[in-house]
Amino acid sequence: MSDDRYLTFALCKGRLAKQTLELLERLGITCEEMKDKDSRKLIFVNEEHRLKFFLAKGPDVPTYVEYGAADIGVAGKDVILEEGRKVHEVLDLGFGRCRMCVCGPREAARHLEHRERIRVATKYPRIAKDYFYNSRHQTVEIIKLNGSIELAPIVGLSEVIVDIVETGSTLRENGLQVLEEVCPLSARVIVNPVSMRLESRRIKELLVNLRSILKKED
Ligand code: PRP
Repeated sequence: MSDDRYLTFALCKGRLAKQTLELLERLGITCEEMKDKDSRKLIFVNEEHRLKFFLAKGPDVPTYVEYGAADIGVAGKDVILEEGRKVHEVLDLGFGRCRMCVCGPREAARHLEHRERIRVATKYPRIAKDYFYNSRHQTVEIIKLNGSIELAPIVGLSEVIVDIVETGSTLRENGLQVLEEVCPLSARVIVNPVSMRLESRRIKELLVNLRSILKKED
């Protein structure tokens, strides 16, 4: 395919998009329009490099990439695991580092130890189910929540939660702790499988350049 086609990026609104754009700037890829905070535009174009960027809600980024509406996406590993979309995960960008953990009050550790049929509140039911059923071989009841997950064990909705821990301060301030680590998380680059074949030269070049900057930072 010719270089005339635009490569489209789907980025997660917020901090991940900002960090991704900073990284691309270091490759000489800029998108001034995107920095205008008053703009209501949804799609931004870099004519020089034939690139387009759009901002989406985190969990929707893998969806855009699976369907080919975006060739490339940057999303947290949490979202990639939870959405389970057919995309190629090709690069760990190393920022947005945190952990997916099973958390609760200290006393809840015995429910894990004895593999009891407990209730697990989470925004990530797929990750929680996979962890409890396939790694721990423990049958549990998963309760899907949409935020402020730490509330669940405090008010008696569940014994434990599966949630993201970054600094650990939300847990500490609410008398909870990490009981087990499920997996480490960070921002990843994902690619549509068809784009990977049709635009392999441009995508591979971009990945090589990104890897070399990330290496310099190590
Ligand atoms: C996330 C996560 C924890 C918190 C962890 O919540 O769900 O609650 O951040 O960060 P910490 O370890 O640095 O305290 P977020 O702020 O995204 O809001 P939410 O509760 O609506 O999910």
